[in-house]
Amino acid sequence: MRRIQGYDTDTENPAPVPDGAGCWGAVDPQRGACPLADFSGKVAIVTGAASGIGRVIVTRFAQAGARTVIADTDADWGENVARALTDAGHDVRFVRTDVRYSDQVDAMVARTVEQFGRVDILVHGAGVTVHKEIVDISDAEWDLQINVQLRGAFLLSRAVARQLIRQGEGGRLILIGSTAGNNARVESGPHAVSKAGEIQLVHVLALELGRHRITANIVSPGLTDIAGLSRTVQHPEYQQAFLTQVPIGRLGQPDEIANAVLFIASDQADFITGQMLCVDGGYSAGKLAVQGPSNPPPYDRVGMEKPLQD
Ligand SMILES: NC(=O)c1ccc[n+]([C@@H]2O[C@H](COP(=O)([O-])OP(=O)(O)OC[C@H]3O[C@@H](n4cnc5c(N)ncnc54)[C@H](O)[C@@H]3O)[C@@H](O)[C@H]2O)c1
Repeated sequence: MRRIQGYDTDTENPAPVPDGAGCWGAVDPQRGACPLADFSGKVAIVTGAASGIGRVIVTRFAQAGARTVIADTDADWGENVARALTDAGHDVRFVRTDVRYSDQVDAMVARTVEQFGRVDILVHGAGVTVHKEIVDISDAEWDLQINVQLRGAFLLSRAVARQLIRQGEGGRLILIGSTAGNNARVESGPHAVSKAGEIQLVHVLALELGRHRITANIVSPGLTDIAGLSRTVQHPEYQQAFLTQVPIGRLGQPDEIANAVLFIASDQADFITGQMLCVDGGYSAGKLAVQGPSNPPPYDRVGMEKPLQD
């Protein structure tokens, strides 16, 4: 069993794939499809979409009419999601891709264009997290996380942006960040560093690609409930500790992250670039736990007249 940030990953005994794979976290049938946008005619690549948040994002894009590519190292779960979505009438491909390697990333983008004729949207959600203090992290653990999350973001953004520039019709680069990117936590070294690096990456991409009508943004989730959607298991103690810092007082739902991604990917977000949208119940707004006994207002000290009634 591998320990990763706040989670255990047991690849030998993955959580069972629920029936009806591809529809978890999908839009409530009572509420209907996502009202934000229609993605008919668009092509979206979602990395890390074999499981967790990425899986819900790719499902939502497919339900909103996009043709989609699931790019992931997990062929078993990736094929499963692609099959379920295809059975539901959507046009989806799984392309086994390790986002750490430029040849695989470039080949996946080329295959997307070969299959669908174009690409419009990149969502980079692939991730792993090493849950150790800096003094205990090996070279290999550091490199793994930085390469999947930050180098992968660079390789994917470069490959997709080159294609978007060739097409000449604009496009969307969206990275999945983390609250760790702007709020350091213990045992999050390469995770926090890679997510912080993504923030400057989208700043530079926004500056360089704006003239091509290509936007680059981050959607940054707070702790999100991926139970039943992922091989990754979040420890209840970690969730409880985290929740003490969340003003809204609950975990995020993958659909709530997908809502933000679909909005940023839509035409409605045409003028938003170089930004980070935190979907975290207020976690990144400040330090919820820092408070102390209250003092009376210091009217005398600052020379203010005391109001007659408080
Ligand atoms: N779940 C949360 O609470 C949370 C909070 C903040 C940010 N995030 C971020 O959201 C993203 C998705 O996380 P998740 O919680 O859904 O986790 P997850 O483990 O369910 O999904 C990660 C996916 O990335 C894939 N992957 C790993 N290495 C890869 C590689 N080298 N190439 C291609 N694919 C690879 C995995 O196979 C998996 O399908 C990550 O970037 C994570 O940092 C998650």
